[in-house]
Amino acid sequence: MMENSFGIDSKKTFKRYTRFLLPIFGLILIVFSILPILNFINDPIRQGFSDPFKRKLRQKISDENEFQEFLERYNKNYETEDEYFTHFKNFLINYSFIRYHNMLGKSWTLSINKFADLSTTDFQSQFLMNKIDIPLISNKKIATFEENPQIPVDLDWRDTGAVLPIRDQGRCFSSWAFSAASSIESLQYIATNKTASLSPQQLVDCSGSFGSEGCYGGTPSQAFSYVILNGIVKDSKYPYLSTNEDCQKKKIKKPYVKISDFNYVSPNDAESLLNAVAQQPISVMVDADPKIWQFYHSGILTEDCGTGLNHAVVIVGYNNTDATPYWIVRNSWGNWWGEEGYIRIANVAGSGICGINMLPTFPIF
Ligand SMILES: *[C@@H]1O[C@H](CO)[C@@H](O)[C@H](O)[C@H]1NC(C)=O
Ligand SMILES: *[C@@H]1O[C@H](CO)[C@@H](O)[C@H](O)[C@H]1NC(C)=O
Ligand SMILES: *[C@@H]1O[C@H](CO)[C@@H](O)[C@H](O)[C@H]1NC(C)=O
Repeated sequence: MMENSFGIDSKKTFKRYTRFLLPIFGLILIVFSILPILNFINDPIRQGFSDPFKRKLRQKISDENEFQEFLERYNKNYETEDEYFTHFKNFLINYSFIRYHNMLGKSWTLSINKFADLSTTDFQSQFLMNKIDIPLISNKKIATFEENPQIPVDLDWRDTGAVLPIRDQGRCFSSWAFSAASSIESLQYIATNKTASLSPQQLVDCSGSFGSEGCYGGTPSQAFSYVILNGIVKDSKYPYLSTNEDCQKKKIKKPYVKISDFNYVSPNDAESLLNAVAQQPISVMVDADPKIWQFYHSGILTEDCGTGLNHAVVIVGYNNTDATPYWIVRNSWGNWWGEEGYIRIANVAGSGICGINMLPTFPIF
């Protein structure tokens, strides 16, 4: 075995060097990977400027960009600069309210939507009726629904074909007409396997003698009373205009469907309401408090709004298997609102969340 001293020496030197070099390389590697992170943390633009004025200005610019995006998305135009700034101000306040709500981690979320540039009073005056007076209901108009253990634990009438696509009432307090038309559509489907979109405009224009006031408001039961005597035509025959018009007598001569009667579900009785919804979708009225309804995005509404009934909707299902039992509620503000036009509302006893148990009513075929 021949080993020269040079060879042995060089191996030793190599080992000695690697002992130093490896940690140094490691250190260099670590430093280079940390540098961008440090840079990122120190980035004055990302951090916001240290000068509060500049920081504020920057926030304003990003908010105004969001506002511009919002205007584009919803095709909004304002006539004057004043109008622009009034709505921009509304948008800023509403947006910070939405962000704040979503930070609280409640069971429902809010989001920017078509209503984001409206103040509470704008929203109320364009989309919500005046609080209605609860009618006196004679006992014989109240249907009793015995507790039925046979009903399913969860039910969604949308899965059966009984519920037609979401619609948009526009700036007209016609939720009552949409609610009534929708529950008649569903009932007709359940009874006959066929249905068609029915005309809320006919109800808006023609049901005045039953107490409704067209685009100024009404109740589903007023609409039902009208349909018992006059029937209702298809939407395609009497299209929706979102304004008060004269009743077009020619268009309504041959109704597409009639109902024989309507009833109320016993008020403030969640158990009866559940059994009623198991039978068919039910028209209800709610207090559509802007703090919740204007920007509702998703989830189960568990907080009470109040009991000043100012908006009509339809319960099209329920779910008692979820940790929070809830109603599936169909709105008429277009399908960009809420969960594709729907809101889920916790099912609680008494008058219910937003008064949903207070005035349930349904058509009879
Ligand atoms: C929306 O903005 C207006 C400010 O103009 C404010 O009064 C209103 O309370 C806001 N709406 C909500 C739900 O916070
Ligand atoms: C509707 O159709 C289903 C299945 O297609 C059938 O079982 C049911 O009896 C029909 N109902 C009516 C009222 O025609
Ligand atoms: C009811 O809720 C449960 C649990 O959240 C869910 O799995 C089920 O799909 C829901 N049923 C309906 C009809 O939405």
